[in-house]
Amino acid sequence: MCKAFGKHEVLKGVDLDIERGKVNVILGGSGAGKSVLVKHFMLLLRADKGGVWVDGTNVFELGPKELTGFRRKFGMVFQFAALFDSLTVEDNCAFPLREHTSKSQSEIADIVADRLEALGLAGTQKKFPGELSGGMRKRVGLARALVLQPEILIYDEPTTGLDPIATLNVDEMIMSTAERFKVTSVVISHYMASVFRIAQRVSMLRDGLIVACGSPDDFLHSSDEYVHTFVSTAGVTGGASPRQEEEETRPR
Ligand SMILES: Nc1ncnc2c1ncn2[C@@H]1O[C@H](COP(=O)(O)OP(=O)(O)OP(=O)(O)O)[C@@H](O)[C@H]1O
Ligand SMILES: [Mg+2]
Repeated sequence: MCKAFGKHEVLKGVDLDIERGKVNVILGGSGAGKSVLVKHFMLLLRADKGGVWVDGTNVFELGPKELTGFRRKFGMVFQFAALFDSLTVEDNCAFPLREHTSKSQSEIADIVADRLEALGLAGTQKKFPGELSGGMRKRVGLARALVLQPEILIYDEPTTGLDPIATLNVDEMIMSTAERFKVTSVVISHYMASVFRIAQRVSMLRDGLIVACGSPDDFLHSSDEYVHTFVSTAGVTGGASPRQEEEETRPR
């Protein structure tokens, strides 16, 4: 898949598989095009060349009507929580349900309460985003992404700007959400400790191409120089698959 903005070629032939039901992490330096790439998955951007296949359908061939239904397969947790500051937590989370379903107010309130509770946010319904911490706002963003029961959840840098404990909480939330809601997760991240905690599959985007792709273990032992530098500067050391040995790699 290729995508340029004017003369600036951001994606120069990206070839990437996302594994169903797994936590797929996409790594890459700042400005590498990670946010641009994932926006193509649900057609927030349209590629100049190539396609994105979801369940055998090339999303770029969908008509306007099919597109609305298709987008409901996705939940997106945006890089900057992207909540409406003037709406309460409850109204923020209810928004997709009011937009896309004809559920009653009480059904909507129940779904929102369920998602908030699952994310440790019970009782925050009437608060405004400005009254919450950054980590709580991220979780509200996730609760909102989950109300329509998406099959695929995209997280754009869910832990950037959070302290290590909040990061750990968000990582655990990503893993438990993957299990509880049986979703396919795509996580953009820079933070190597997180990557090796949550990833079942890692891909590296560089200069508009996927330069490495595989299990976290393959990644640690990659011969690609850029991958090697990225991993070694983060101080993550080699060994067995970190996710399976989670207890060993978790920072204390
Ligand atoms: N709508 C747009 N119009 C023009 N250029 C854009 C647009 N969106 C992104 N770009 C450019 O594409 C490049 C990649 O941007 P992108 O946001 O995907 O980076 P990123 O890998 O997500 O970086 P970061 O880790 O800092 O979030 C940047 O140079 C950016 O300026
Ligand atoms: Mg980005």
